[in-house]
Amino acid sequence: MKKLFVRTYGCQMNAYDSARMAGLLAPLGYDSVDAPEGADMVILNTCHIREKAAEKVYSELGRLGQLKRGNKQMLIAVAGCVGQAEGAEIMARAPTVDMVVGPQSYHRLPEMIARAARAEGKVLEADFPALEKFDALPAASASGVSAFLTVQEGCDKFCTFCVVPYTRGPEQSRSPEAVIAEARHLAGLGAREIVLLGQNVNAYRGVDAAGRAWSLAMLCDALGEIEDVLRIRYTTSHPREMSDDLIAAHGRGGKLMPYLHLPVQSGSDAMLAAMNRQHGADSYRRIVDKLRRARPDIALTSDFIVGFPGESDADFEATMELVREIGYATAFSFKYSARPGTPAAAQKKQIPESVKSERLAALQALLAEQQHGFDDSMIGRTLPVLLEKPGREAGQLMGRTPYLQPVHVAAPSAHIGRLVRVAITARTANSLHGAVAA
Ligand code: SAH
Ligand code: SF4
Ligand code: F3S
Repeated sequence: MKKLFVRTYGCQMNAYDSARMAGLLAPLGYDSVDAPEGADMVILNTCHIREKAAEKVYSELGRLGQLKRGNKQMLIAVAGCVGQAEGAEIMARAPTVDMVVGPQSYHRLPEMIARAARAEGKVLEADFPALEKFDALPAASASGVSAFLTVQEGCDKFCTFCVVPYTRGPEQSRSPEAVIAEARHLAGLGAREIVLLGQNVNAYRGVDAAGRAWSLAMLCDALGEIEDVLRIRYTTSHPREMSDDLIAAHGRGGKLMPYLHLPVQSGSDAMLAAMNRQHGADSYRRIVDKLRRARPDIALTSDFIVGFPGESDADFEATMELVREIGYATAFSFKYSARPGTPAAAQKKQIPESVKSERLAALQALLAEQQHGFDDSMIGRTLPVLLEKPGREAGQLMGRTPYLQPVHVAAPSAHIGRLVRVAITARTANSLHGAVAA
């Protein structure tokens, strides 16, 4: 047996890809381990979204270089979005790296390993072949209760701050047949919740064997027919792609959970235009209104960027105002990070770091207040909770509400994978506590 260590940075799609890479290497005799010491192969599955994320890779490569000195046969691969964006630079800057593989090319890893073993030198694969990798990957051999499933990859939106269109390539959707087969397979392995993934997942347009185009709503309906799949979620959505049939699917409820991550980035029309988001603040408000009319309890979350080039105090205040109006269950917020090669990075009116920090602190305080208010509103209610895994303390399990809130509850581990009713009794900083209702 050879030892494989994979470290994952970035989004859920990278987590999905890491699991698929481990599955791909298993038939070659690679067994996953949870530390790089003594590993025969190390894969860093990297993220390029913000400067900090990308920098982590180089510091980790420094540490791995030292390990490799005492373990000469160790192969080091850089996968993911930094690999795609800076492959040649990594090869030049980090002599310890044996191979670089982009997110669309990792099905070629076995062949790349063979080439590295034949000492043909460093290997770089960073094309965008059309979804070829999914056909080339073996099926998963294990699954958690909640399983990620990539249905759409890439982005054609070109927001002016973002590297994703350059690292993940153009928007592509897998066929509905392939997605349904994978969901059935995951359910057979114990998955009870399927989380459909895509950089713009609601831009999903799969074509079936009969040539018919499927929307994400149609796909969710079809997946709902798989008996062992109890819950369906999807992420991340773009406001421009929030179609009426998807909103109607939320209205029907069923297995589609009342939760939506719908990033708006800013509440200022001037900033939204400068970001090339292709919608204004009011059209976002209208989408939220429609969603809430269809599904009044839907929990909304978002991503925000503060300190985008040219953002004035009034622009930032428009973001705060939008947040106050919408009311989020939770949200992610980031300081704008200038990324090489993106249009916004070249703009002159960059915002000072101190202003970004102030705005981020104010926004995060407001979002935390909303999150705590939302979580507190669950206390005293009885909610269906899908039990996912062991909790922090013995005898405890962690599960999630329909609104994705983590809940800690006393239950035997045999109940993992079950949907139970839980009376919510308390909240801590980021989770709820409760007791299984009779
Ligand atoms: N496709 C998704 C977002 C993927 S990136 C969407 O359009 O919503 C996840 C989040 O990272 C983005 O929503 C954005 O808030 C943030 N982000 C992306 N580029 C960034 C940058 N250059 N600086 C700061 N945050 C950024
Ligand atoms: Fe990036 Fe915009 Fe595409 Fe989202 S929609 S991945 S933020 S370019
Ligand atoms: Fe990061 Fe690439 Fe995901 S840049 S957020 S790992 S798509």
